[in-house]
Amino acid sequence: MSLYEMFINNTGRPIHKSGHYFFAYERHFGRYVGKPVTFLEIGAGNGGSSQMWKRWLGPLARIVAIDINPVCKQFEDEQVAVRIGDQSDAAFLQSLIDEFGTIDAVIDDGSHHMAHVSASFDYLYHRIASNGVYMIEDMHTAYWSEYGGGRGDPRSMIERFKGMLDDLNADHVRDGTVVPGHFTHRTIAMTAYDSILVFEKAPLINKVMKIIGDDSLRVNY
Ligand SMILES: C[S@@+](CC[C@H](N)C(=O)[O-])C[C@H]1O[C@@H](n2cnc3c(N)ncnc32)[C@H](O)[C@@H]1O
Repeated sequence: MSLYEMFINNTGRPIHKSGHYFFAYERHFGRYVGKPVTFLEIGAGNGGSSQMWKRWLGPLARIVAIDINPVCKQFEDEQVAVRIGDQSDAAFLQSLIDEFGTIDAVIDDGSHHMAHVSASFDYLYHRIASNGVYMIEDMHTAYWSEYGGGRGDPRSMIERFKGMLDDLNADHVRDGTVVPGHFTHRTIAMTAYDSILVFEKAPLINKVMKIIGDDSLRVNY
């Protein structure tokens, strides 16, 4: 069964998702199906989504769901750990790494407030697996002032994402206005969908341009 089928046929605890998100989920998290994975869900909600991730990812997956609401503790089971805390609290995030080890994938479906989204990303991104995936959903809130967003507002995660496109390409910026850093050398892809941002990491990114082939077949361009 596809993840989307699991969602639309769900009769268990409620899951709160937009239909088009499933295209991104299957595309970026599909590689973890059936594999050992530590999957961090920020925002447990009603507990249905962590059940969905568990069923889809399979018996080797460890789902770690965090929420600020203590009522979510009841959603724990043999594959789902729930920890109560604030997604913007670095000490709390570090306690998850201390307890569960390296996190492979993150889905941020928490408060959707820009300060919280940024705090979680800034703490976790460089600490997740070197081939990890970091997804942030419901980023329509990046355009909404009540979530600390707004078009052109530097606090907006979508504005930050636009700037990070330059960080991703920093090796090619000749005027020194963008300096290559950890993000440049550890990020293989940034993908944007309506309301979803995705960052994918790779441990070694071979960026050396080469021309390989029979040199006699070369044309000038
Ligand atoms: C949209 S719901 C999550 C829905 C769930 N992932 C699903 O797909 O059905 C957002 C959750 O984030 C939690 N939340 C809000 N602020 C938070 C914060 N600062 N840290 C952690 N969780 C937070 C809320 O309590 C709520 O349960």
